Amino acid sequence: MSEIRPIQWANGTLRLLDQTRLPSEEIILEVHGYLEAVDAIKEMRVRGAPAIGVTAAYAVAMAARELDSADPGALDRDTFLQRLGEAGAEIKAARPTAVNLMWAVDRMMTVAGSGVGSGAGTSMIKDRLLEEAVSIEQEDEAINRRMGNHGKELIPDGGSVLTHCNAGALATAAFGTALGVIRAGWEDGKRFKVFNTETRPFLQGARLTSWEFKKLGIPSTLVVDSAAGMLMRRGDIGCVITGADRIAANGDTANKIGTYTLAVLAKENGIPFYVAAPTSTVDLNLNNGDEIEIEERSPDEVTEFRGVPVAPEGIEALNPGFDVTPAKYVSAIITEAGVARPPFIESLDLAVRSVR
Ligand code: MRU
Repeated sequence: MSEIRPIQWANGTLRLLDQTRLPSEEIILEVHGYLEAVDAIKEMRVRGAPAIGVTAAYAVAMAARELDSADPGALDRDTFLQRLGEAGAEIKAARPTAVNLMWAVDRMMTVAGSGVGSGAGTSMIKDRLLEEAVSIEQEDEAINRRMGNHGKELIPDGGSVLTHCNAGALATAAFGTALGVIRAGWEDGKRFKVFNTETRPFLQGARLTSWEFKKLGIPSTLVVDSAAGMLMRRGDIGCVITGADRIAANGDTANKIGTYTLAVLAKENGIPFYVAAPTSTVDLNLNNGDEIEIEERSPDEVTEFRGVPVAPEGIEALNPGFDVTPAKYVSAIITEAGVARPPFIESLDLAVRSVR
């Protein structure tokens, strides 16, 4: 199987596998400017915390190219950096919860500001930014493979695992986080049953995770979100493993809506609940999950699916995109630095500092 790579830079163009069209169509979206990249993130054509970060990095590189190409060398360095900063702020505002977006833009801005010599002209900065975006993409895959290696030990041979939303290759540059751990266990020769939730209302689980498992040749069983409790109580689930969009310093974890429900149910049923995420998802600036901004998406995503009504017209609906799982429900957090265990205030700090 060829690797699933949802984000590719080729011949000066960003190419995204349009995730709103999967699984029925595999359409590549060509993104020519940074504002088109912002739209692709907002519309969830590219989604998943690390994938949003990689796309944001390319968006900054494209913004630099746009600023430089109108009249090469015309902008002095300070004006160029100021305008690039404004573009960076627009990119950061595309979605609020996944901190990888802010992390990637900040990393790119640091390169633009102090990562090149003070004598570097705008054209050199632009070239350096593209190199940095490519590095962020390549590092993401390497990080996911490391996470897979650390996390696969937690998957019970002969047991079963439940995952939620999509934390696979599609949500990253390649390989995936939670799905990367499952894949690493499977490729190691372990055999276990995989369940994945459909993940209302955007159906990342049904549409994207099922598509990935099929491509990987890992048998999976799709269940409606509300079946999880029944399956856990019946003894069908050996562990739960999800990705994350932002993890506070104390281990409180924001992830796709419904994750909190799964974590509480797991605890009630004595099942370990694992989170797999790169250290770029850990936000040490936040003490706890109450400080994480939760994205509210359009109620139309709840009342319609691809334009087809699934509720009476005019009905009120609420569509929070994420929830926060308090750290007390999380058994371990798998990062590229290893498996962090409670108390996360110490183990996450150690993990982050070991790689930054
Ligand atoms: O709204 P989405 O599809 O961007 O949300 C994605 C998730 O919540 C994922 O579980 C999370 O980003 C981890 S992806 C490796």
